[in-house]
Amino acid sequence: METTNIDRARDLIIRARSVFVLTGAGISAESGIPTFRGTDGLWKNYSTTDLATPEAFKNNPTLVWEWYHWRQRIISQAQPNPAHQAIVQLEKHAERFLLLTQNVDGLHVRAGSKNVLELHGNIFRARCLLCGATLRHLPPDTEQESDLPRCTCGGLLRPDVVWFGETIPQDIWHTALTFLTKTEVAIICGTSGVVWPAASIPEIARHEGIATIEVNLEPTGISTMVDVSIQGKAGKLLPQLLHN
Ligand code: OAD
Repeated sequence: METTNIDRARDLIIRARSVFVLTGAGISAESGIPTFRGTDGLWKNYSTTDLATPEAFKNNPTLVWEWYHWRQRIISQAQPNPAHQAIVQLEKHAERFLLLTQNVDGLHVRAGSKNVLELHGNIFRARCLLCGATLRHLPPDTEQESDLPRCTCGGLLRPDVVWFGETIPQDIWHTALTFLTKTEVAIICGTSGVVWPAASIPEIARHEGIATIEVNLEPTGISTMVDVSIQGKAGKLLPQLLHN
């Protein structure tokens, strides 16, 4: 019988004692959360320069907060899908496991993943521009927002996410790289692989001789770089990779 890419990927995963996973917006697509690129992607209808840079926030914090509160509402109503759940199972069965996500939606944690690092922050967290405190921040009850969110110290709060032009949390990146370079398998799922530094992970893994598996709806710039590339929905494919 012909060995399929799913068989090859499953085999690599079953034999690995240590598994690293990188996820992007595609893993939450089946939960109803829009991705960023592609036909229905957020960046088709919204401008990164108006909404996702420190300058955008400085110029129009009300507009930026409105957009983040809108996204928070969508995410609050979403549920983790079978792809998130498959990653929880993967963690339970691996001796060593690390999940690095570019997603700010918190769905991996809600699904039950434990060893998760959020590279781009979390949409339900805010950070004070004055005192630097971080706190949980939920959208106001009504969509008619009046005042900008403020910290108890009086400082203006901003979403605690990484915007374009900002550096990612160095401690998280360092921990992820340390794990990655010692792992046996790296699974890259639901990311277009164009935003750095996450985009460098397949290349680093390949350089280290780590077995790499991509799961994505369509071929990406990563597809030719990995050992096994599988196209389809993550919610269908990831559970298949874990079962014989
Ligand atoms: P993108 O929107 O760039 O890419 C999503 C990827 O998921 C695409 O390659 C899709 O083909 C794939 N996809 C969509 N639905 C899928 C499904 N059901 N199953 C499997 N794959 C699916 O999202 P990211 O790569 O995560 O950063 O984007 C990276 C960063 O760019 C984001 O974290 C965000 C954005 O700008 C910031 O906001 C800083």
